[in-house]
Amino acid sequence: MKKITLVVLSLFFIGQAAVAQPSEKGIEAKIDSILSLLTLEEKVAMCHAQSKFSSPGVPRLGIPEIWMSDGPHGVRAEINWDNWGYAGWTNDSITAFPALTCLAATFNPELSHQYGVAVGEEARYRKKDILLGPGVNIYRTPLNGRNFEYMGEDPHLASVLVVPYIKGVQQNGVAACLKHYALNNQELWRGHINVEVSDRALYEIYLPAYKAAVQEGGVWSIMGAYNQFRGQHCCHNELLLNQILKTDWGFDGVVVTDWGGAHDTREAALYGLDIEMGTGTDGLTTSTRNAYDNYYLALPFLNLIKSGEIEEAVVDDKVRRILRLMFRTNMNPSRPLGRINNPEHLHVARAIAGEGIVLLKNDDQFFPIDPTRKMTIAVIGENATRAMAVGGGSSELKPRDEVSPLRGLKERFRNATIIHSMGYASGPPQYGREVPSKLDADSLRNAAVKAAAQADVVLFFGGLNKNHFQDCEGGDRLQFGLPFGQDELLRELLRANENLGVVLVSGNAVAMPWASEVKGLMQAWYLGSEAGHALADVISGDVNPSGKLPFSFPVKLSDNAAHHFGELSYPGDSVNQYYKEDIFVGYRWHDTQKIKPLFAFGHGLSYTTFELSDAKTDKKSYAAGETITVSCKITNTGGANGAEVAQVYVGKPNSSVKRPVKELKGFRKVHLAKGGNTQVEIPIEVDALAFYDESISGWNLEKGAYTIYVGTASDAIAQQLEIMVK
Ligand code: BGC
Repeated sequence: MKKITLVVLSLFFIGQAAVAQPSEKGIEAKIDSILSLLTLEEKVAMCHAQSKFSSPGVPRLGIPEIWMSDGPHGVRAEINWDNWGYAGWTNDSITAFPALTCLAATFNPELSHQYGVAVGEEARYRKKDILLGPGVNIYRTPLNGRNFEYMGEDPHLASVLVVPYIKGVQQNGVAACLKHYALNNQELWRGHINVEVSDRALYEIYLPAYKAAVQEGGVWSIMGAYNQFRGQHCCHNELLLNQILKTDWGFDGVVVTDWGGAHDTREAALYGLDIEMGTGTDGLTTSTRNAYDNYYLALPFLNLIKSGEIEEAVVDDKVRRILRLMFRTNMNPSRPLGRINNPEHLHVARAIAGEGIVLLKNDDQFFPIDPTRKMTIAVIGENATRAMAVGGGSSELKPRDEVSPLRGLKERFRNATIIHSMGYASGPPQYGREVPSKLDADSLRNAAVKAAAQADVVLFFGGLNKNHFQDCEGGDRLQFGLPFGQDELLRELLRANENLGVVLVSGNAVAMPWASEVKGLMQAWYLGSEAGHALADVISGDVNPSGKLPFSFPVKLSDNAAHHFGELSYPGDSVNQYYKEDIFVGYRWHDTQKIKPLFAFGHGLSYTTFELSDAKTDKKSYAAGETITVSCKITNTGGANGAEVAQVYVGKPNSSVKRPVKELKGFRKVHLAKGGNTQVEIPIEVDALAFYDESISGWNLEKGAYTIYVGTASDAIAQQLEIMVK
């Protein structure tokens, strides 16, 4: 035994002395030698949990445990070994970063990298080897309770933004764990609903961001989804995991279940799962045997190998992947130490929040509000003071500090008299249960209306929160409209004072029957530790808003494609659901059906104005494999410094198949001083114009004319160009 330990340890030391990251070949050789030392029992043990958030190592060989944590907006507080209770540590508070919807709204890949680096440093400091995030499930319906954790409705946008996040996390020697692969686009019945979707929609809409994360981001682990796809659970789905992920895309990392996502030993063993987590142990923990031994990939797996029904090579492949992840993380002796709650991380959180806030509407230049003015501001609404890092499910956080919008405004608007009135109440933060507020709704409303009447400016902070049936895991929203009587309250506030702006705190689109009556409107997401500061930055004009919507806001629910097709499309009949809208998700649907959204994908205003001109391509005609360079000039024509996003969409008139009018294929954000201009170049791979052709099970690049749309939102196209594909 001793001899073996020495062999392995010396392997580690060679790794440490030689290079920061041992060469891939070197690592594979080490893995071979370790595999030959492990007993079958030890190998099987590595394939399943030993606690809520860890899987075992092999102490006799110095192989460490793997520690995981949610993800994706910060590192979750420590959870008990064997149940979901919080461990009550006093040293596990962290920086809360803005929700991924906000990151997507920045349209800024550089900020995504900074986000990844910062959250990765915090994970490393907290001694986590895998950070459970980011998520790139496509925004299909505004009712999905988890949309706030994802990056919107467009596969190109999500692909471009997920890659730098992953690289940033992993440069800390912490594995990102991409989730939830795939088609977990609603929370209702998520544990069993079987999703039926065409190959075309699968490849064109739902998979690209995962593929980019694997092939361009080099992600080291991926989490299977809870739901089923074509009759098989996604955590052991032969097509998704063995074929597409591991074979077609060449993924060499670890597939982790979602917690409790495994359902069958043979499938788990054979269809691509590597580590099983979260299978229910409650109720079993008093048994004399360790309850984790009862996992599908524990004793039942061991027995199938021992009986010869499953080859030992199956577990070897899983352990090889797990060891590979370890060499990248907790067995990489030169990974950095990490840091936490430092000013730099707060700065990153604030910058992302500031760039992600979307100015949806701004009549009479309602925003910005002059912070030097003496005036009375009525700040109405529960979300002005409600902490939002708590709640929402597994992404909930325990931030060291969370600046509320009210506090942010009070700090910045020192000359103003600020009166706050709740206006409505939603009930205490809860996960998995709805607890109505005990406060009297009428009194709250009356007090708010009175406050509004005596103010110069009214700022309404409403929207959703992280409670069950809102923006929260484990359930979908029950309605598209705002809850807690906010619509009625807004009507009364508008009657009392029409100088009113709304700041919507949510991760989802909501119905806004009052949208035409309010002067200003901002989409503020969940902004994390620096929420109030970032909001005050934008409201005061210290930061000029430049966020763009990463998903469409329909006027009404039936305008959304998934809902248009009725119950079998969303939410399904509780057994199956059919994605009947196919590839026409989000703006692809609105554009093609000519259904005007309330606010379009890519929309977002600024305190200055921009002009987009001189759009051209470098050539007129292209062949497969080439790059189209679209260029245009952007001029800041207004009175403030600001940032604009040039967006390039492409459409194929006269296609042999149904195609959306246009699809986002490139974008570029530029910061410009007032009066300034710049030339931007946006490269687009010709091959990215192909559609997924089910008749050949592959991509088909149609020849002929394509239309290139250059603009600043999906509904603000400044110029159209034509190119040919030969
Ligand atoms: C969620 C995952 C999460 C896991 C661990 C699951 O319920 O779906 O996103 O990472 O729990 O908390």
